Amino acid sequence: MLTFKVAELEFFVEHGTTIQQICAQYDTPIIFGCRAAKCGACIVRILDGGKNLGSIGTCEQAVLDILAAEPDHRLACQCTVLGDVTVEVG
Ligand code: FES
Repeated sequence: MLTFKVAELEFFVEHGTTIQQICAQYDTPIIFGCRAAKCGACIVRILDGGKNLGSIGTCEQAVLDILAAEPDHRLACQCTVLGDVTVEVG
């Protein structure tokens, strides 16, 4: 069982579930735009469990670089949940 926490919400999800899938199924505060690592609208801070997300692809890294994101930021539209993860939005 994997846990994905965002804001005060907690979800138990299958290994390999994407954050986009979770947000499509439940009402979460994560805002999506392009859903393709282009706009940066979905940037979130990973409070815990960053190692439990899928790796950062070149497109995601390029947008994070443009946004001068901190190392604990990810684009939610590109993240796959592989273990316990805690996310902060905003
Ligand atoms: S929704 Fe545009 S980068 Fe994630």
